[in-house]
Amino acid sequence: MAIQAALAAGKILEKYYETEILKEFKEDKSITTVADRESEEVIKKVICETYPGYCILGEETGYTNNKGDYTWHIDPIDGTRNFSNCLPFFALSIALEHKNKIIVGVVYNPITRSLFYAETGKGAYLNDKKINVSKDNSSHAILVSGKGKSAEDRKFARALMHYLPERFAGLTVRDFGCCALDLALLAQGGVEVGIELGLDGYDFAAGVLLVQEAGGKITKLDGSSWKFPDNEFIASNGVFHDLLVEEVQKQKKKLGI
Ligand code: IPD
Ligand code: CA
Repeated sequence: MAIQAALAAGKILEKYYETEILKEFKEDKSITTVADRESEEVIKKVICETYPGYCILGEETGYTNNKGDYTWHIDPIDGTRNFSNCLPFFALSIALEHKNKIIVGVVYNPITRSLFYAETGKGAYLNDKKINVSKDNSSHAILVSGKGKSAEDRKFARALMHYLPERFAGLTVRDFGCCALDLALLAQGGVEVGIELGLDGYDFAAGVLLVQEAGGKITKLDGSSWKFPDNEFIASNGVFHDLLVEEVQKQKKKLGI
């Protein structure tokens, strides 16, 4: 069902992609478009047909139905800035949470036709092929990072992106602007580390399950156990996770955060 919803919403994104779409600015200065709204509407319609009464939390429309043990988390476009600038680096994200655990996750980029999905205990898949995190150590690693709107998160993310490559020779930094894809690509083995700071649950809900089901590791920044929807975490392929935690902590101390 979540896959069906993703494919239906993907058609909306394809329809609007590379058209002259109006960028609207929200109060927090982030961008939204008619495509974000239509995509969310389609996803919610498909969910409500199969799971009437379930709580849904969508970026564009907030909560639908009362809070219960299960919640669907929807980001109708993660990476709206890329989408509206005709950069094909965005995705929609759909996830089902049960009591602080994500049990279903789908991330879909309709432009590259990359459909990532996972269900607890059943592994992670990209277009029906099982995926796993990479085994690369820090000397061949790519680090990605997503950050929320606060000045502090942004400062910290910038500092880490500068500092960590100095500490780990061979570590390269990329800034994709799409947290859902950061995590999906980590699950696929394309990147080794994702540090996500201050984002909303719907940005990373599906991605975290992909990482976990692909054999990756997610902890809080201090290395302690992480649970949804904590929005500060290090996700990695696990190979040098503890060393990363050490370095992130050092930098945090240095900045007085
Ligand atoms: C964005 C992405 C990105 C993060 C931005 C978010 P949105 O989400 O998740 O990774 O760095 O701050 O705004 O707004 O395009 O859904
Ligand atoms: Ca969004």
